Amino acid sequence: MYSRIIGTGSALPERVLTNAELEAMVDTSDKWIFERTGIRERRIAAPGQTSTDLGDTAARAALAAAGLAPSDIGLVVVATCTPEKVFPSTACLLQNRLGIAGGPAFDVVAACAGFIYALSVADSLLRGGVADTALVVGTETMSRIIDWQDRRTCILFADGAGAVVLRRDPTPGILSTHLHADGKYKDLLWVPGWVSDDYAALAEHPPHMVMEGSEVFRVAVEKLGESVEEALAANGLDKSAIDWLIPHQANLRIIAAIARRLRLPMEQVVLTIAEHGNTSAASVPLALDVAVRDGRVKPGQTLLLEAFGGGFAWGSALLRF
Ligand code: ACO
Repeated sequence: MYSRIIGTGSALPERVLTNAELEAMVDTSDKWIFERTGIRERRIAAPGQTSTDLGDTAARAALAAAGLAPSDIGLVVVATCTPEKVFPSTACLLQNRLGIAGGPAFDVVAACAGFIYALSVADSLLRGGVADTALVVGTETMSRIIDWQDRRTCILFADGAGAVVLRRDPTPGILSTHLHADGKYKDLLWVPGWVSDDYAALAEHPPHMVMEGSEVFRVAVEKLGESVEEALAANGLDKSAIDWLIPHQANLRIIAAIARRLRLPMEQVVLTIAEHGNTSAASVPLALDVAVRDGRVKPGQTLLLEAFGGGFAWGSALLRF
């Protein structure tokens, strides 16, 4: 048995934050941001709008696309590093919003690689017979963990959600997923502080993301390059078999490096980074939904999904759509 994606959906907050606005907030320029990252603008959640809210909208869109009702879903897996609460998990909050109960629901934390991890776990559980249908959501409110005075990070990150409905099916589907992590890189991309810390200190200095950008960049290109080749080799496929690369949208230069390694023209890469920025675990399902809805991704095509993020954690998913 396989699991197949039978519906996609996404959600973006209304508020657009442009590079021009960031120029007024920190010492940066539209030219620097666009040339170094490929980002023009990004979406920022409204006050009070949570990862559950965005995930809810994306999930309902994916269910509608699949022609299913919430009651058809037997498993909910949410990837987020910006959950609405410490617990209950965003998956449980989402399950409750959708008016369903009883099946397993849990969050996966793998920062920007979260959706690939969540997809892999859901795929294994479906193939193992735990459920017939799963909702897999990547949803983030990265704006809440950004220091808006830190030009090294505030120009990159953004909010949004993407979702897929997976169904257990004898026709392939997800062909493979490969997951990796290496905690020795923990200090290169992290949010210093959480609930086990001193509350008084936390209240004074709320935790914000800290990133050694150029080192993250270097390792991301190396590990993602290895990862996409690993996916092809595991399936005995040539690079030419890929119809679409749907990468994590962290930096256009990272994406271009991976496309070069795959000898794939940029016309076969789904890019949303200019309008979405880096929405962490939401970026891959958001990009997938955009390309499904505008008709680029068609049934039967072969898609390679990849992502890299804090941990470091990274991975790929190769699938037939
Ligand atoms: N505007 C203007 N100048 C800036 C800005 C800015 N916003 N940010 C940094 N600079 C300056 C630096 O201070 C530095 O100046 P200096 O040469 O005088 O010291 C110069 O620009 C170059 O800085 P670098 O950090 O070397 O720039 P780089 O080309 O590496 O680009 C970037 C930085 C965009 C952050 C890039 O390194 C990157 O995208 N890294 C990877 C991010 C990523 O993939 N994260 C993984 C997922 S995130 C997650 O898991 C949550």
